[in-house]
Amino acid sequence: MLKLNLENAKIDEKEIMKYKSQVENIHKDLHRRARDEEDFVGWLELPTNYDKDEFERIKKAAEKIRKESDVLLVIGIGGSYLGARAVIDALSSSFVNLQKEEKRKKPMIFYVGNNLSPNYINELIEILEDKDFSVNVISKSGTTTEPAIAFRIFREILENKYGIDEARSRIYVTTDKERGALKTLSEMEGYERFVVPDNVGGRYSVLSAVGLLPIATAGIDIDRLMNGARVAQEKYSDSDLKYNECYRYAIARNILYKSDKLIEVLVNYEPKLHYFTEWWKQLYGESEGKDRKGIFPAGVDYTTDLHSMGQYIQDGRRNLFETVINVKKPNLNIRLNADDDNLDGLNYLAGKDLDYVNKKAMEGTIEAHVSGGVPNIMITIDELNEENIGELIYFFELACGISGNILGVNPFNQPGVEEYKRNMFRLLEKPGY
Ligand code: PA5
Repeated sequence: MLKLNLENAKIDEKEIMKYKSQVENIHKDLHRRARDEEDFVGWLELPTNYDKDEFERIKKAAEKIRKESDVLLVIGIGGSYLGARAVIDALSSSFVNLQKEEKRKKPMIFYVGNNLSPNYINELIEILEDKDFSVNVISKSGTTTEPAIAFRIFREILENKYGIDEARSRIYVTTDKERGALKTLSEMEGYERFVVPDNVGGRYSVLSAVGLLPIATAGIDIDRLMNGARVAQEKYSDSDLKYNECYRYAIARNILYKSDKLIEVLVNYEPKLHYFTEWWKQLYGESEGKDRKGIFPAGVDYTTDLHSMGQYIQDGRRNLFETVINVKKPNLNIRLNADDDNLDGLNYLAGKDLDYVNKKAMEGTIEAHVSGGVPNIMITIDELNEENIGELIYFFELACGISGNILGVNPFNQPGVEEYKRNMFRLLEKPGY
């Protein structure tokens, strides 16, 4: 169960309530648009309104990949891979790819098509030499350069390794139901195809086939993930600001932004959440950074980054606030033992567990940063499991939709990313540019 704490954000309740009618209007507007196929608000009802047959097909495909492959290559960029990676990393062992096969019992998931580095591709090709692998290529537009190049390379490798027919049965395509080069290609080749719903944009698509096929292949229970999101959908369907913590978070951000807190730093004390932060950064950065407006979304992994970014956050420009994702209970803990010699001076911790130390680091840091002028928002979940991650995903997506609208931007488009593409295509002499 997710809980929001705004105590250390030092926001007056009256300030929050000033947003009441604005947020109620946005709430109504989003819910009115949720089933419009031409709009981009389909994510709002995705935990309940999704293609159930496709959902079963995803589970079957995941099972098949698990049986016949040591590796699943997830080819995609931005919203087409970050959600899957966020969930898989949060819910798997940090060393999952190094686990012995008998223990792991599922393919290793590798990501490609999210950069243009020849080093990365060559190193991956080398790793795959003695491994059986399948590919899930994910692109809503079906035309994005990075995944298209990676798919061309790895399709050829698959065909050379297994022959055209078997290669076909190892390729899974997730793309638009009607448009795009990838859709045409997959139809011609007969690849198994999954759909990115028309009314769900890339960065809001983790709970569709985009995220669900890689997540299920990684051995994560997608029914439980959807259940968690469903709980959140139900919980936040009441727009009452006294109870709706999702809307309170969106409003708190806006209040802080208006008092010149222009950077939000998402903080975790659990390295498994590193990619969750990357997903969150894309969600908020692409949704809100428009028309010369928007909070800059940044992220840190503590306590690691207390030894790098900690100084700035404590003492640099006072234009930021922190949002901590606090995981109450670790999945595994470790007790610190007494040592006869105590040469490291750590016996004062003997008998305590490591999570206790981690939590004290968190409490001490919050206290220091708040007194140093960094407002703090805290979001607590009980532990890392499918339901809680599902709930957290929905919480942040909905808060983003509300927050972007409060800000007065369209949180569902991304016109700004086109400019670099135009330049790149011109420089690459792509026909028509
Ligand atoms: O959120 C978005 O829409 C983007 O980040 C896209 O996900 C990203 O650009 C990849 O696009 P596509 O899935 O069309 O390849």
